[in-house]
Amino acid sequence: MKNLVFAMAIALLALGACTTQGTDENKEAATVDNGQAAIENIMTRTSIRQYKDQPVEQEKIDIMLKAAMAAPTAVNLQPWHFIVITDKQTIGLLAGKQPTNAPLLIAVCGDTDKTSMPDGKMKLPDFWVEDVSAATENLLLAAHALGLGAVWTGVYPAMERVAEVANVLNCPNNIVPVAVVRVGYPDETPEPKNKFKEENISYNKFGGKKE
Ligand SMILES: Cc1cc2nc3c(=O)[nH]c(=O)nc-3n(C[C@H](O)[C@H](O)[C@H](O)COP(=O)(O)O)c2cc1C
Repeated sequence: MKNLVFAMAIALLALGACTTQGTDENKEAATVDNGQAAIENIMTRTSIRQYKDQPVEQEKIDIMLKAAMAAPTAVNLQPWHFIVITDKQTIGLLAGKQPTNAPLLIAVCGDTDKTSMPDGKMKLPDFWVEDVSAATENLLLAAHALGLGAVWTGVYPAMERVAEVANVLNCPNNIVPVAVVRVGYPDETPEPKNKFKEENISYNKFGGKKE
């Protein structure tokens, strides 16, 4: 029995060491520059709508998808699905009223079959829309960090557009397109917009001022 307790203690310590090591590495990455690189990436992202005639490498697509799926998600349900589109004809069909020369589209969809609590007893309110939106923003930020340009084009909740996109992409009923992100190497250099406005902030209560 003593041996078993000892073995368990060693195993827990080893696990703790691994976890601590991982955490320390993450902390190190974040503190090397006081988070400046990450903040800079957020502040310099801007929508890009003109692209070079150059395909996006699969490695970069994989990184964007990993970043998207690292987004926060209610009850960790991960109610999303990503459709990667490089086929020119499909890109043309999806562009609708906004033609594009993007070499890559990523349709970020909700999966409404994944919106119930894990025990299946309770369906969550429509948090899946927030989850998918958070994933979309992560995808845009990853694209920018990788030297790519991207723009979010809205789909959900414009139900006509949802039907249009779902039809082109052959989506089953549970797969709801929320956004179609256009991606490519930028062929324009618009200035990021400064959207910081004090008037959009309150402290403690609505309308409260900063002390
Ligand atoms: C929900 C949503 C829908 C959008 N739809 C479109 C769109 O259909 N076409 C487009 O060119 N840009 C679209 N955008 C991009 C916005 O126009 C853009 O984010 C906004 O003008 C701010 O500019 P910035 O992204 O450069 O900061 C959309 C953005 C969001 C969040």
